[in-house]
Amino acid sequence: RNDLTGWFAEQGRELPWRRTREPYRVLVSEVMLQQTQVARVVPAYTAFLERFPTLRDLAGAPTAAVLEQWRGLGYNRRAVNLQRTCRAVCERHGGRMPASLDELLDLPGIGPYTARALLVFAFEQPVAAVYVNVGRVVARALLGRPAPPRERQAVADALVAPAPWHTAQALMELGARMCTARRPACTE
Ligand code: ADE
Repeated sequence: RNDLTGWFAEQGRELPWRRTREPYRVLVSEVMLQQTQVARVVPAYTAFLERFPTLRDLAGAPTAAVLEQWRGLGYNRRAVNLQRTCRAVCERHGGRMPASLDELLDLPGIGPYTARALLVFAFEQPVAAVYVNVGRVVARALLGRPAPPRERQAVADALVAPAPWHTAQALMELGARMCTARRPACTE
């Protein structure tokens, strides 16, 4: 854990969503990153938040305006679902993102990955957000063998617990840049 977070502190990329803990901003970044590469998300994320700076701004906007701002990212259903999530947060939670797994999972447009990403990246709770890159790091670099999703999640949760935000970001960074699917930089 110390090696991982130490490496991340020195070598981790400075990405705009790593400078915030605001749930709305974390949510926007996670939805964009689901099917779009980091290099393309960075400018889109900044422009999107200039147009819709708060969760309420996005909830209250015409869907056509949201789609227009999403243009270029593709998979437009994501934008519609993102707005549905924000509208539900306004209706059910007075515009404040809930900080529990159950309440997050109850929201439209939020699945198990996004819910955990919000818990760890916005609320700094001791859970890991395990998507494909992170699952690979856990199975390959930590366990050294294939493992079912439930075990990957449990191992990742235990790893991040003492320093959730930094460790969870570091797992993503390692999976994206070193422990890559096809040409892992094992010796480095
Ligand atoms: N992909 C999903 N979440 C990410 C994050 N926080 N940083 C980099 N890549 C990501």
